[in-house]
Amino acid sequence: MRKLIIAIDGPAASGKSTTAKLVAQRLGYLHIDTGAMYRAVTLRVLEEKIPLDDVQKIGELAEGTQIRLERSGSGSRIYVDGRDVTTDIRSPSVTNCVSLVSSYRLVRDVLVREQRRMAERRGVVLEGRDIGTVVLPNADLKIYMVAHVTERVKRRKRDLELAGSVVDSEALEQQILERDRFDSTRDASPLRKAPDAIELDTTDLTIEQQVQFVVSRAQKILKRLS
Ligand code: DC
Repeated sequence: MRKLIIAIDGPAASGKSTTAKLVAQRLGYLHIDTGAMYRAVTLRVLEEKIPLDDVQKIGELAEGTQIRLERSGSGSRIYVDGRDVTTDIRSPSVTNCVSLVSSYRLVRDVLVREQRRMAERRGVVLEGRDIGTVVLPNADLKIYMVAHVTERVKRRKRDLELAGSVVDSEALEQQILERDRFDSTRDASPLRKAPDAIELDTTDLTIEQQVQFVVSRAQKILKRLS
């Protein structure tokens, strides 16, 4: 049976990760969290104490870093140069710097090349900001997820609190809006809805409804292709 390439893009905390992970599980596909890959490079930049404006050095670091995503239980784990960094890439310092690091063309060139390679075998759900527009413009199904900022703050706050962090909603809202602004106004592959993407507003949807929406679209395409 033919396998699909599914692209899920959208702003921060719009529900991409949870949806992409569950859609991949239901279809037996591989979930590729491309934001996690930009976070992994950012973590290495911070660990190596490379100045955040040293574009050349950061590009070289990205080129020399091996990133691996592995399925594990109900989720996936991410390794840089063989080290499990699944938890470390979610730290506030990485979150604060990842928009800047991911705006560098040299970094994007390396990671986009890798993302295309991972998608070659098909049967993949990639989530990010530029999957449907730049990484895989020929994806079989493109979803652009959005949600009202108040709902996004609520979701992100719940995730952070579950991970043991204390967060202020107002500061979190500012951070999310600032990251959206930066991600959508940068020169290199800004966050944008592909013209042929289906917009899905998840503000009032349950996770199950979000997942079902994407899975049923995928099944329709698979039926047409069979
Ligand atoms: O989805 P996330 O919050 O983990 O993404 C972290 C950052 O990575 C986000 O602020 C923008 C960047 N990113 C990107 O530029 N392109 C992608 N395909 C995925 C993420």
